[in-house]
Amino acid sequence: MDAAMALTEHLARWLGESRSTPYSPSAFRRRLYGLARQHGLARNEILLDSKAVAVWITRMYLEMAAITYDRIFVPAPLPEKKLVDDFQKLVESAPPPTEEFHQSRIDSPSACRRALEIHGWLGGRGEVLMIGDDDGTALALSLLGDYRLVSLDLDQRVLDWLKAAQPSVEMVRADVSCMPEDLEGRFDAVVTDPVRDTFGLVFLRAARSSLKPGGCFFLADHPDWNPKHRRFLRKLDEWGFVMLDCYKNWHAYPAGLPSEECGDDEEMEWFCRLSHMISLWSHLFVLQAPV
Ligand SMILES: C[S@@+](CC[C@H](N)C(=O)[O-])C[C@H]1O[C@@H](n2cnc3c(N)ncnc32)[C@H](O)[C@@H]1O
Repeated sequence: MDAAMALTEHLARWLGESRSTPYSPSAFRRRLYGLARQHGLARNEILLDSKAVAVWITRMYLEMAAITYDRIFVPAPLPEKKLVDDFQKLVESAPPPTEEFHQSRIDSPSACRRALEIHGWLGGRGEVLMIGDDDGTALALSLLGDYRLVSLDLDQRVLDWLKAAQPSVEMVRADVSCMPEDLEGRFDAVVTDPVRDTFGLVFLRAARSSLKPGGCFFLADHPDWNPKHRRFLRKLDEWGFVMLDCYKNWHAYPAGLPSEECGDDEEMEWFCRLSHMISLWSHLFVLQAPV
């Protein structure tokens, strides 16, 4: 409960409340929404000025703070310790995430949770393509079943890391907007955590073209951190994909804002500290390609 108390004290400080016990998750969320409204960040507000992006990001962080708080009280399932430890050893040699490729690596329990769900759907067999694999999903899957694994990425550092950690994974260095022909229609399952904007649709198109009819598509995304999320789901629906399941708030990403973005006014300092106390979260969607 230390984390809940720390977040409670942080929020209470801003609201001028004094607290000796943690807020309930619903009280925490209510106060964050109140704070958002006070600052003109209400959900249904139409924003057409240059502040729109900053407002959107602030709103996203407040929502992620509420989810992080919920997850203290109802934690995401913790995979078996040996699996997480084995995976963690493989991640220690991973290259640092870079903005150049929009990278942000999920933590090891999240990567194992993702792999376990994929494994549950696939049952240990088949050919699986990772489109973008800085999270090392292929490595986690290699610890679970006898899969034929292919990781495609534009970042050679990611491919070198995966190859050194698990030589049986096939590496493909390619831009997702120009998929190699030999991947077409070949996979029982495709996994991707796409870029959070219109370019993410290119990841979806690549997944669609690589799947066998009826294949499984595992998509990491979240409506509160991807402004194009609804467009993604509409597109998949148009293509005939069927939603089979959604594991909510399944993956945690680091949320801490870099100090150079934090400025020196009191409001920004409070917000930056909050960002270092929380995680960003994405859901894992399971969809089936048309037969
Ligand atoms: C897109 S990033 C994850 C993005 C994360 N969901 C976000 O929005 O912060 C996932 C992987 O895709 C790779 N990647 C990024 N752009 C790519 C491209 N054009 N072609 C192939 N892989 C790419 C990255 O190197 C990384 O390993």
